[in-house]
Amino acid sequence: MRILLHYAGRAAGAWHDAFVRALPEAEIVPWTPQDASTFDYAIVYKPTAEQAAALARVKAVFNLGAGVDPFLAMPALPASVALVRLEDAGMAEQMVEYAIYAVLRVFRDFPRYADDQRARRWSPQRRADKSAFRVGVLGLGVLGQRVAATISGLGFPVLGWSRGARTIGDVTTLAGAEGLRALLPQCRVVIALLPHTPETDGLLNRATLSLLPQGAWLVNLARGALVVESDLLALLDEGRLGGAMLDVFVEEPLPRDHPFWHHPRIEITPHVSGLTLVEPAVAQVAAKIRALERGLAVTGVVDRERRY
Ligand code: NAP
Ligand code: GLV
Repeated sequence: MRILLHYAGRAAGAWHDAFVRALPEAEIVPWTPQDASTFDYAIVYKPTAEQAAALARVKAVFNLGAGVDPFLAMPALPASVALVRLEDAGMAEQMVEYAIYAVLRVFRDFPRYADDQRARRWSPQRRADKSAFRVGVLGLGVLGQRVAATISGLGFPVLGWSRGARTIGDVTTLAGAEGLRALLPQCRVVIALLPHTPETDGLLNRATLSLLPQGAWLVNLARGALVVESDLLALLDEGRLGGAMLDVFVEEPLPRDHPFWHHPRIEITPHVSGLTLVEPAVAQVAAKIRALERGLAVTGVVDRERRY
């Protein structure tokens, strides 16, 4: 079995070595401009359109990430080739950590106390009522479900939103455009964990974000393009929203002159909320390749119509 591995980055050697260890029966070949038709599988991280086009004959392409939006933006990969994404592979735990930090930060008023410290102001606030502090989770897939269940387990009322109906413990689940309109006005913190698709592009804009209660926070851990950045800035500047914690942006790396860098109510991280981890990702991909070789079905195959 021949497997083409494309990983352009500092960790390329570590990925190669880990796949060689995990699939000793396979020949793992690092990408060079070559005839990809002689390979059984391809494992890729952010391939170019040209590379995607070269993969027309493999049995499956494994994406070393959960989101496949860059891939689907290239019409080059034929629909006949199965595109398989990462499912969790150590990312859910990271997303949960980030979400807990964000929710507790807002609930316990830490941004206000940071302002107070800078002003040398001693100003204790009353304890907020947790039962009235609702948290919204947009996207209840592999990552959103874990986040919603964990925040709910901390005692916060959680409302979750997805395309189809979902049931997750004590989480109130909603679906469709109506569901989103019902969810947003209730939530003090909204955490986005949706894929970027034509349907979710610009979903969080002036109209939808204005449905949030005064002072609410947006936490975007999914894709920058879910948010109309100028609308978010305007709502923060108008004092409608309390703040935003953003891990993802329309343009990455965030351009040096972008207003998000120095906005007092925006906290940014450089797309690190759910990093792809070598060992769990390699173990997952290797197990799926072995399953496919035995003629078994695997999960995580991207629905090319839904685009996630
Ligand atoms: P997933 O398992 O495919 O879940 C996607 C969820 O979004 C599902 O619940 C789906 O609804 C919902 N959804 C999709 N389109 C929708 C729409 N139009 N309206 C309402 N709900 C919709 O994906 P995942 O593994 O949880 O990952 C989610 C996203 O996180 C990825 O696509 C990626 O963009 C992002 N991500 C970011 C990082 C980072 O480091 N920042 C890391 C990993 C992933 P159904 O349940 O009804 O299908
Ligand atoms: C990272 O953003 C991913 O989609 O895995």
